[in-house]
Amino acid sequence: MELRDVIARRASVRQFAGDAVPENDLKEMVRLAGLAPSVNNSQPWKFIAITNRDLLGKMADSVRKAIEQCLPICGDENEKQARKQVEWFSTFFENAPAVIVVAQCPYEAIVDSALQHSGMSHNDVNALRGHPDIESIGAAIENMLLAAVDMGYGGCWLSGPLIARQSIEKCIGIGDPWQLAAMVALGKPAQDVAQREKKAIDDIFKLIA
Ligand SMILES: Cc1cc2nc3c(=O)[nH]c(=O)nc-3n(C[C@H](O)[C@H](O)[C@H](O)COP(=O)(O)O)c2cc1C
Repeated sequence: MELRDVIARRASVRQFAGDAVPENDLKEMVRLAGLAPSVNNSQPWKFIAITNRDLLGKMADSVRKAIEQCLPICGDENEKQARKQVEWFSTFFENAPAVIVVAQCPYEAIVDSALQHSGMSHNDVNALRGHPDIESIGAAIENMLLAAVDMGYGGCWLSGPLIARQSIEKCIGIGDPWQLAAMVALGKPAQDVAQREKKAIDDIFKLIA
């Protein structure tokens, strides 16, 4: 498929047909994710593909539990509906044929060696630079989503489950210095998903010539 068509066809898919995603396809999506740009070419990522139903169920249970603790069921109907939605958007991954968990580790930057007398830490500089570590992870995930579309799959990027970060890290064996950064649910779409409405080009583009 032409790259522009792939980009235009990508839309978040949250309902999947039952077909399994073969390991080789998951590997290819991760290979293409790993070609993304990253701060200092640090490639501060690791990708763990999960197809084990029990494990995915356990991860979703830990998300439900964390939501219960953070957003206790009370309040009016609107609040209850919102909570229900948050729960669904954070747990639907348990029904996806595959989930790729993205883990990130701290990167070393050239500037780190110049910080000794500056009073600034690596984290201070990372924040000043607009969190390039997280930006790098985002670039890799977009590559993965586009690769999935090109290969006939669909996917959805998830940050909602991070509410249960520690439990999920424990379930999968992600340990220091690594931490859970995001998850991507993947599979054959249950039905065609049209691209969501996007802002018009003139609303988002400005040229300063
Ligand atoms: C950083 C990030 C986090 C997201 N987290 C979730 C999530 O937890 N659950 C979910 O269902 N969708 C999640 N999404 C998908 C967005 O809801 C989706 O991209 C947006 O509604 C636009 O729709 P589109 O992807 O079809 O263009 C996330 C997207 C991004 C970029």
